[in-house]
Parts: sequence; structure tokens; C-alpha cells
Amino acid sequence: MPGVVIIGTQWGDEGKGKVVDLLAERAAMVVRFQGGNNAGHTIVRDDETFKFHLIPSGILHPGKICAIGNGVVVDPAVLTSEIDALRRRGVDVGGLKLSANAHLIMPYHVMLDTAGEAKLGKLEIGTTKRGIGPCYADKSARLGIRVQDLLDAKILRKKIAAALEPKQQLLRPFARDPKLDLHTMTEEYLRYGHRLEPHIADTAKLCWETLDSGRTVLFEGAQATLLDLDHGTYPFVTSSNPVAGAACVGAGVGPTDIDEVWGVCKAYTTRVGAGPFPSELTDEVGVHLRDRGHEFGTTTGRERRCGWLDLVALRYATRLNRLSALAITKLDVLSGLDPLRIAVRYRGTEGAVFEEFPYHQSILHTAAAEYEEMPGWEEDISGARSESELPPQARDYLAAISESAGVPIKLVGVGPGREQVVRMNGVELKAA
Ligand code: IMP
Repeated sequence: MPGVVIIGTQWGDEGKGKVVDLLAERAAMVVRFQGGNNAGHTIVRDDETFKFHLIPSGILHPGKICAIGNGVVVDPAVLTSEIDALRRRGVDVGGLKLSANAHLIMPYHVMLDTAGEAKLGKLEIGTTKRGIGPCYADKSARLGIRVQDLLDAKILRKKIAAALEPKQQLLRPFARDPKLDLHTMTEEYLRYGHRLEPHIADTAKLCWETLDSGRTVLFEGAQATLLDLDHGTYPFVTSSNPVAGAACVGAGVGPTDIDEVWGVCKAYTTRVGAGPFPSELTDEVGVHLRDRGHEFGTTTGRERRCGWLDLVALRYATRLNRLSALAITKLDVLSGLDPLRIAVRYRGTEGAVFEEFPYHQSILHTAAAEYEEMPGWEEDISGARSESELPPQARDYLAAISESAGVPIKLVGVGPGREQVVRMNGVELKAA
């Protein structure tokens, strides 16, 4: 039962796509289990850059099944345009499967997301305004429209009408928007249904068949642990569960189908949108990290907030996801910074020390990170391919992370290219 979950350990944008792309070589199937097109994965292959928002990163490997699981919320306009863009570049999308149970982002979800943020004013969450929260809210309220509904005009129309009804008040500012017209919307979504029909499948069953025949399934997380609706920095979170446990619900497998859980962690920390960030840097080091690391959102283009690596948060993510391995990304971005700092604990306003991630919002919002310093390195490490090619300071930095988390580091990213990776302790996946 070789099931491998890959999740982010921070606030997203850790470079999960690259890790999935590398591990996908040995997998038969890649499945996304939560989130929607709020995610953005960039993969650089032979000097070609691919950006995905919905399609699993494994799509660049011909012959693999790439599934969008039931836990994902799907904007069909985005999905069909990603399919078109890949086809234009000669990528075979025959392996793309879309769960019939996945929920659809509708035009009114996007409008409600925008309106909700505007209403919050200064207290805004800083969402990606892609309709994610309102879509998951409708799913919970049992007013959602699912992929399978696209295949039946009568049902689709009825369900859209029912979903629109309780929102009339909230949608009043958009009343004249033609996108909200019931007939137009139904026709538009039926067209998407027609286009997506060849991809619609029972993706849970595909996972079972793959796992039961001893082949590897990668469960690809989007966003990350600290953006988790239940375990993240609520309310500054996304509306799904990016933690590893959610892979079971969002793809339709059982906990004992999971053999390994890989956490992806950037060598420093970034966050997009509002919310607490104890190791945030507002000085020139933060600017250095942002510029060297090209820390601008793949989805919204927003500047990412940058800070030092936070071991308190990493230990929390390690336990919450019960990680079995770590992949550290963007280590090359730290070259030239000396000394390096790592957050090892937080201090509250009244002087209290927190060695563990505080559950209380008021503490987290005011806690300041306390650091240990480590020597940096000057060398360009982007050409390193083995542990021994890394400077001793870089190896010490990695050892400190691994020791604090209590988890082995298996991969280290040293540049954007897929070959720019140091494989530590062997990264062989079990079965292919
Ligand atoms: P939403 O997911 O669009 O509702 O946004 C909620 C919060 O999650 C905001 O702070 C977003 O910036 C953040 N967020 C959502 N998706 C991502 C992602 O893929 N990377 C980083 N932050 C994200």
C-alpha cells in the first residue's frame, strides 16, 4: 500500500510542486485532495516554466494518472483553460481525472469572496479572492454544486437556483452582473460539463485500484499546515484542511493506506495575506529574501512577507502531520547571509516563554520569536548535487532543522530547476 502524502509545513509556497514532480517519477498516480485554484505551483523543466493552479503537478509525466480528488473545489473556467494551455504546449492530458464528487466554484462564490473581504475592511483575511471560502461554505451547507451535476441540465439548473436563493441579499450589489443570470450560468456550466466529461471519474476507486496493485499514489497537498482551517492561525487560514490527515477524506482512502508523509519546508519562512507571523522580518534581510527568493505569489502576484525559519512552527507541523520525511527547499536563497538566525522559541508580551506553538490566538498574535544564530556561507550552492558538495555551514543548518524536528531530511532544493536538488540519505520510493 504505497501511499505517500506531501504537504506544506508552513504558510504555503514551500515548493511542494517541485517535490511532487520529483517523486512522481516513481509513482503511478498523483491526486490532489483539497484547496482549489488559490494554489499555485511553478515547475521549471528544461528552461520551460509551467504554472498550475488546479492540475496536479504530476501531469508532466506521461502515463501517470493525475486526479483532482473529491476534496478539491474546482473552478471549471480555470480548469478548462489549464487543460487548453497544456495541450498547446504539447502535454498529454489524457491521464487527467476529475472526481465527480468535487464541488464547483460558481461565479457567485467569487463575488461573495470579494464582497466578504471588502466588508471586513482592515480586518480582511487577504484571501486570493478565487471563491474558495464561499464554495466550501456551500458544501457544508449542502448547497454545493458538484462536478456530476454538470452532466444533467435539469438538476444543474435546480441546484443553482436553490444555491442562489439564500444569497440574494448578499449578492444585491452584483444584481446586474450578467454572470448571475440563472439561464446564462446554467448554459455556461453545461458547456464546461461537456468539455470536462471525458475526464470525470470515480477518483477514489482509481486510488484503490492503484494502491491495491502495489503501485504508488502521491497525495499532493495545497496551501499548508498553518493555513489549515482547524489547526492553522484561524481566522487567517484557508477554508480547507491542508494537513496530511485530510488526504484520506479528500481523496477517499483510509488512514492505513498512507505509508509516508513528507513535509515540505522552505529554508526560511514566507506568508501571503494577513495573520500572525512571529519570525517575520521587516528589515533589509526580509527584502533580500523576497528578492533573492522571487517571493511573489504565483496566483495573485502579491509580495510575500518573509522571515527566518521558525522551528517552533515546524515542530508543530511535524507532529500534527506525523511527518516521516522532510524536504527543505530554496536553501540557495540563504547564500551570502551571515549570520543566519533560526527561531527556536517565542516570548509573549508578559515575558512568558513558549517552546511549543501556542493554541491561543491572542498569544500568537503578540508573540515574538527568539533566535539562535548560526554561521552562514558565501558559496553559490546551486550546483551542489550531494551532501558533501554543500559547505559545512549549510550542512550544520540542515542538521539543526532535522534534529529539532526529529525527522530525516531527504531532499534539499538548491535552485528552481528540477535537477537542482541534493538527495540526502537516498530518496527511493518503494514501488513504482
Ligand atoms: P483563500 O484560500 O483564498 O480563502 O485565502 C485564505 C488565506 O490563505 C489567505 O491568507 C491566502 O493568502 C492564503 N492562501 C491561499 N492559498 C495559498 C497558497 O497556495 N499559498 C499561500 N497562501 C495561500
